[in-house]
Order: sequence, then C-alpha cells, then structure tokens
Amino acid sequence: MKFFKRLMLLVTLTISQFAFAAIPVSKTVLNDVYTYANYDQVITTHLYLDLAVDFEQKTLSGFAELSLKWLTDDTQKVILDTRDLVVHNVLAQNSQGQWQKVDFVLAKRDAVLGSKLTVNTQFKAKKLRVYYNSTAKASGLQWLSPEQTAGKEKPFLFSQNQAIHARSWIPIQDTPSVRLTYTARITTDKDVLAVMSANNEPDTVRDGDYFFSMPQAIPAYLIAIGVGDLHFKAMSHQTGIYAEANILAAAVAEFDDTQAMIDEAEKMYGKYRWGRYDLLILPPSFPFGGMENPRLSFITPTIIAGDKSLVNLIAHELAHSWSGNLVTNESWRDLWLNEGFTSYVENRIMEAVFGEQRSMMEQALDAQGLNYEIAELAPGDTQLYIDLKGRDPDDAFSGVPYKKGSCF
Ligand code: BES
Ligand code: ZN
Repeated sequence: MKFFKRLMLLVTLTISQFAFAAIPVSKTVLNDVYTYANYDQVITTHLYLDLAVDFEQKTLSGFAELSLKWLTDDTQKVILDTRDLVVHNVLAQNSQGQWQKVDFVLAKRDAVLGSKLTVNTQFKAKKLRVYYNSTAKASGLQWLSPEQTAGKEKPFLFSQNQAIHARSWIPIQDTPSVRLTYTARITTDKDVLAVMSANNEPDTVRDGDYFFSMPQAIPAYLIAIGVGDLHFKAMSHQTGIYAEANILAAAVAEFDDTQAMIDEAEKMYGKYRWGRYDLLILPPSFPFGGMENPRLSFITPTIIAGDKSLVNLIAHELAHSWSGNLVTNESWRDLWLNEGFTSYVENRIMEAVFGEQRSMMEQALDAQGLNYEIAELAPGDTQLYIDLKGRDPDDAFSGVPYKKGSCF
C-alpha cells in the first residue's frame, strides 16, 4: 500500500511537471488602449523625480529617472506617454553604470493620447533619465494665482492624474497596468510647502527643498503633488489635515471621524496597509469631490458643510485604500471595478460609523440619482463595461460605474 502511494505520488509529480512545461510563460496582453507604452516588453519599476516648481512660468522642470525591467529580448525601445512636455534630452545607463545620450522621437500630438515618446536605447538600459519641463497647458496640473486661493497671498499648484493626465507632467508608462514605487525631490519657493502621495512628515521644515518616498508600488494615476501655503493639524495618531490656515480648523471639525472610519473599515476589509492617512484640502477649483491619492486623499473644500452631511466622500476616498489602490483596474474600461466596489465599501463604512438609517438614506439618494442619469445617457453609456474606443475617458465619465457598480 505504501509503495502504491509512493508510486502514485511520483506519477502525479511527473504529470504535473509536464503540465507546467506545457503552459506557456504568461505574456502581458496589451488591454489598455489609452497608453502608447510597450509594457509587454519593458516595465518601469521605480521612478525618481527631480523637479523645480516655477509659479511664474507655470512649469515643472528637471528630470524623471525610470528604472527599467526588460521582459523580452525582442526590443531595446522604450515607449513612454507624454502630453505637452518639452523634452530636452534623454540619457540611458548601461550595465557598467555609465550614462550616455540616446536618440528619441517625440511623435505628433494625438488629441486624446498626447505624444508618444520613443527612446531608442540600442541596449537594454537599466535606467533612463528624461530631462524635460511641463508647460502651462499641462492637463494634469492646475496653477492658481494667490487670488484663487483661500488665503489670497500665495500661489497654489495641484495635480489630478486620473485617468490619463500623469503624462502631462511626467514622461511615464501611463497605464494602471504598470505599478512603480517612487521617490522625489521637489524644490519650490521657501514660503510654500509641497506634499505628495507619499511619506509626508507632519513636522517637515518649510525650506523649499522637499523629499518624498513612496515605497509601495502604485500606478501612475496615483502619483500626486500639491504645493501651497499649507499647514498641518493632526486629528489622531494616524490622520491629519493639510490645508490653508483659514480653513484648517473647520476642516478638522468636519472630518474628525476619519480615524473611526479607518477602524471600522479595517474590521471589515483587513488592515489599512498604507501607514498614515491624511487629507489635503484644495481650493474650490479642484475639479472633483475627492481623489484617492495614496496616504493623502485630495478633497474639495466645498464639502465642509458644517454638519458632516457630505463626509461620505471621505469614506469613499478612504475606501479606495482597499478597492482601487491595492487591487486596481487593468484599464479605464474597467473603471466600474474601482468605483463600484469603492462605492459599496463607502456605504458599509457610513453604516458602521453613522448607523443604518444614514446609509439607507444615501443608498436611496444614489438610486434616485442613477435613475435620473440613465434617462439622459446614451444607451451604450449605461453599461458597466463601456466601450471607450476613440473617446477621451473623461468624456465617458458618469455615475453609472459608481451606483450601478455598487448595486452589482
Ligand atoms: N477616483 C475618483 C475621481 C475620478 C474618477 C477622477 C475618474 C478621474 C476619473 C474619486 O474617488 C471619486 O470617485 N470622487 C467622487 C466622490 C464621490 C463618489 C463620493 C467625486 O469626486 O465626485
Ligand atoms: Zn472613487
């Protein structure tokens, strides 16, 4: 009997070895139509950004250093996404660690995708350095004059990368299918503070020279920066708010349930894995309610109602720390996976912190809103897995992936 068992084990192992040999090495399928990147051949594993912020010119200038991992022997080209960038030159580092200038071609601008940047390294470069500057046209940056801020004294800059705006200030593989860690050195005027979707230290010295590290791999749409006359106030050991001084106290009062939201979410969905969770309160021209930039959600000041009636938005951006930021849609066609699951988790958090009546009320309002919206939308746009071919993802945006996705 023992012998028979051994024999069966041997047979099984042998068969399974054959079975493994027969399965081809899994190849990346290029399912994202919104990137030029050849991410089936080479991927960026780490990004170092060295940028100077110029409020006069409305530019970020310096270089982006990309660490590369080659997946195939078929090519030595790296294709990156850009939009309205001025590319000065590109260096590549060879296996001996030497940097050399390499050829690149910046293609004609496509209205949706921007300009494909093809770097012909001639060898499998370990790192690329792209020296460039963004321009005032950058679709992912808003440059505000002092008059457009709450304090009216200092200018303000913020980014909004989702869905495909990272490429307007970073030459990058701008697809949610590629995740990278990043570090950054940002230099600014001495009287403003820079923050990023990274390790913001509450007691940073305000000297115009700031360093950041995001050791967890994230897609390009989650890289984010804010620069302004920002001040910090802690709400708990793990949470706090960056805002202009004259709205800081009101924001802290409005959002002081954030720690309770984290605690409740952890009970349901597992540990919060990102370390700190801070909020950056932006000037009112921020084009969304909120944006789930990791460790630092970006929040509109317009939800500071005085009665916590709109704090489901904080629950929503926090919920993305699980759905979306840990597990991410492969391409923007799958946006409903990010937003639908997050809207569901948002409502579970609201129920846990504020009770069933409130969560039911928000569900009812969402269902009503969804019905109004569906009546107005083109039939194809009421689908979750929407056909985006040839369209800017911003133009196909609606409440469907949120509310219908959350019902699903
Ligand atoms: N990630 C979204 C914002 C977004 C979506 C930006 C698609 C670009 C493209 C964010 O998490 C969000 O959903 N914000 C909502 C909040 C609301 C549903 C509570 C918003 O801003 O309206
Ligand atoms: Zn969302």
